[in-house]
Amino acid sequence: MHKDVLKVLLTKEQIAQRTKELAEQINKDYAGKSVLMICILRGAVLFFADLARLLDVDVRLDFMAVSSYGAGTSTSGEVRIVKDVSQPIEGLHVILVEDIIDTGHTLKYLKRLMESRNPASLKICALLDKPSRRETDLQGDYVGFEVPNEFVVGFGLDYAERYRNLPDVCVLKPEIYGGK
Ligand code: IMP
Ligand code: MG
Repeated sequence: MHKDVLKVLLTKEQIAQRTKELAEQINKDYAGKSVLMICILRGAVLFFADLARLLDVDVRLDFMAVSSYGAGTSTSGEVRIVKDVSQPIEGLHVILVEDIIDTGHTLKYLKRLMESRNPASLKICALLDKPSRRETDLQGDYVGFEVPNEFVVGFGLDYAERYRNLPDVCVLKPEIYGGK
């Protein structure tokens, strides 16, 4: 275990198993259709890569980057598009893939933006969901796990851009979140 980790919340085995279940559901729901999967960088990248490899429907991959947080652990409420998708999404079946739904502000904003571009359909897939923190009516369509109100890192999720490469979803020791 990494020296800064207090506890492991979800092991890589649990994540792999759940990702398989989500992929099976998506394969069933989108059978015979073409899907555009959009990875919300950077937190979703590991989940996205695993999920994409388990899909057997016709899939295209694209990427977006948004910034809503500074280096801390609480939301600023502000969402900025840092990188947009590289193709029009009109008429396509789109799935936005995120690492975590926290307050819901980021995805609420993105959902409204993407809907204005007239996709054939638009769904949200998130590895994690922290419903106790929600400040919007945003809901995920495909959700991996509900997590308690703790700041988590690993499997793509960061604290101040670190710990994204940890193979499990973890909670850090309190002194790490304090200052640095
Ligand atoms: P929301 O707009 O509050 O739903 O926040 C979404 C974004 O905040 C996510 O994409 C993450 O980048 C970040 N975030 C929220 N909670 C956590 C957490 O527990 N660990 C790491 N990042 C988080
Ligand atoms: Mg993120």
